[in-house]
Amino acid sequence: MFKVGVITASDKGYKGQREDLSGKAIIEIMEKQGYKVERYVILPDDEEKLYEEMVYMSDELKLDLILTTGGTGFSPRDVTPEATRKAAVRLAPGISEAIRYYSLKITPKAMLSRGISGIRKGTLIINLPGSPKAVKESLEYITDALHHGLEILT
Ligand code: MTE
Repeated sequence: MFKVGVITASDKGYKGQREDLSGKAIIEIMEKQGYKVERYVILPDDEEKLYEEMVYMSDELKLDLILTTGGTGFSPRDVTPEATRKAAVRLAPGISEAIRYYSLKITPKAMLSRGISGIRKGTLIINLPGSPKAVKESLEYITDALHHGLEILT
């Protein structure tokens, strides 16, 4: 059973000013598919904090997959891809290309997500946009291939 970590990047979610429906949507979808969500955190849009959490989930908890939601857009506070770029040793651009390819059929605004995907040792990290709708649309397209990718990762 693959172990998953979920990181929500949201200043408002972190302060308790907004309920984190995106993180909850990820957990629900992944658990339905038989993944084990071992850790779930809400962090502010802070590159260093996001990076440190990714490293912790990968190096200490040895999770197979980290899914982030939020912080991929154009606002000056959106830094999730930058934190991911620091944590990842190898990039896996095809996953984010696939997410945008599929999402663009639903909304042109999908081009505004700067989300990336990468690999740190045995952990795959994927950035998802920050709404429950976007999370569902992104995950529904990648899950089959994702399972295969995780099988060959370790
Ligand atoms: N992708 C999908 N599938 N569905 C969406 O509704 N919204 C877009 C985009 N990607 C969207 C999507 C919008 S409006 C933005 S601004 C960007 O994701 C970045 O979102 P984020 O800053 O919350 O990560």
